[in-house]
Amino acid sequence: MLNFISINKKIRNFKKTITVSGDKSLSIRWVLFSSLANGKSKAKNLLISDDTLAAIQAIKKLGIKTNYKNKEYIIYGKGINGYNYKKNLVINAQNSGTLGRLLLGLLINSKHAIKLIGDRSLSKRDFKRISDPLSKFGAKFKLNNEKKLPLTIKGVSNLNSIKYFENRGSAQCKSSVIFAGMRSNGTTYIRAKKSRNHTELLCKYLKLPIFIKKKKNYDEIKVRKAKSIKPLNYNIPSDISSSAFFIILTVLLNKSEITIKNVNVNPTRTGVITILRKMGVKIILKNLKTYKGEKVSDIYVKSPKIIKPINCPTRLNSEAIDEFLIIFLVAAKANGISYFKNLAELNQKESPRLKWGAYILNQIGIKTDTTKNSIKIYGNPKLNPKKKIIIKNYLKDHRVFMTSVIAALSFGGKWKIYDKDSIKTSFPNFLKIINKLKKND
Ligand code: S3P
Repeated sequence: MLNFISINKKIRNFKKTITVSGDKSLSIRWVLFSSLANGKSKAKNLLISDDTLAAIQAIKKLGIKTNYKNKEYIIYGKGINGYNYKKNLVINAQNSGTLGRLLLGLLINSKHAIKLIGDRSLSKRDFKRISDPLSKFGAKFKLNNEKKLPLTIKGVSNLNSIKYFENRGSAQCKSSVIFAGMRSNGTTYIRAKKSRNHTELLCKYLKLPIFIKKKKNYDEIKVRKAKSIKPLNYNIPSDISSSAFFIILTVLLNKSEITIKNVNVNPTRTGVITILRKMGVKIILKNLKTYKGEKVSDIYVKSPKIIKPINCPTRLNSEAIDEFLIIFLVAAKANGISYFKNLAELNQKESPRLKWGAYILNQIGIKTDTTKNSIKIYGNPKLNPKKKIIIKNYLKDHRVFMTSVIAALSFGGKWKIYDKDSIKTSFPNFLKIINKLKKND
C-alpha cells in the first residue's frame, strides 16, 4: 500500500457538522484507572487508535482482561493491587509518551523488573523527567545512557511519599506522580505548573484521596494512599486536539462554517480557542455542559475576513501544547508578524515540532525566525504556494502529517506527504472526515 498522500488542489468552501473521535488523554486515563478498579468498567466512544490500543495491550500484559462488544470497551479491573507482575515482562508503549510515563507511576510497586520499550520516536524522548521523581518513592530504574527508553523499573512494596515540584507544565509527569502517590504511604505533595487536569478530575469523580489548591501559576496537590477504586463507566467526549485541525481548516478558508459535536472543552485544553479568538476568529461554544467533572460542548467556527497576528502569551502554552503546529498555519496567513515563545517543550514531542513547524512554513514561502524555544512567523494573507512540497522523515509524527494535509488543502501547492499511517496514532478517521468535507451534500 502506498504510504503517502498527494494533494494538488485546494478544498472548496463548506458548511458542515462533524464528529471527531474520542479524546486521547481521557481514553488512555480511562484504560489505566479501569485496570485498577474493583470490577467491570465500560467506555463508549473510546478512541480506537494505536496509542489507546497500546494502553490496552499493556494492562493485558499485567493480567487484566478486556473485551470490545457493541462499540463498548469493557475492562475487568482486579483492584488497586490486582496487577499480575510476571518475570521478564516487556511492555511496549509504542508511540505514546502519555502511556509510557503514566504507566510507570502504576508500576512503582512491581514485584519484578519490568522493561518498558517504545517505537523510534518514543525512544528519542526524555524519560529522566519521570524516573527522577519516581526514584524518590523508592523504585529502582535502569535507563539507557541517554536517559531514554528502553528502561527497566523495579518497584518496592513499601513506598515513601515524596515532595515533587513539576516545573515544565507536564501533565504526564504530574499524573504519573499522582498515580504513584496513590500507591504509597503518607501524603505526597506536588507543586505543579498548570497543565491539563484530567487525572485530577477523574480522581475527584472517583472520590479518591486527592486535595487540590489552585494558585495563580501552579496547583498544590496532595495525594494519599487509595484503598480501592470504583468501576468507571465513561462516555468519552471528542478530542479538542483532533477538532483543532478542522477548526483551523475552516479558519484558513473563505466563507466556511463548521460545527464539531460534543467536544471536551476542559479549560486546561482550550488554549487553541483562546489564541484563535485573539487572532480575530469567531468561535462559539454551544450546548455547554459538565460531564463527570469535564466540560463538554459543540464548537461552532466561521471563517474570519482577516486574521490578526498574535504575540502569544506564554500562559497559554500548556493549554495549547498539542495544537501549536496547526496554529502556526494561522499565523502564516495573518496580516503581520506573530511570535510564540518559551516553547522548548514543543521539541520534546513525537518529533521536534518547533523545527517541523518552521520547515512546513518555509516550504510554503513563509519567513520564520526560529530559536530553540521560540518562533517568529512573518504572515502573508495572500499566500499562494505553487511549488512542489515533500514532507517526509519526520519520525511519523501524526500531527506533522495532519498539519501538512491542512496546509495543502487550504493554501494550495503540489504536495506529497509521506507516512499516511501515522494518523493511526491518534486519529484514524482523519482522512475520512476530510473526504466528507469535500463532498457536496
Ligand atoms: C498529555 C500531556 C502532554 C501532551 C500529550 C498528552 C497527557 O504532554 O502533549 O499529548 O495526556 O497527559 P506533556 O505532559 O509532556 O506536556
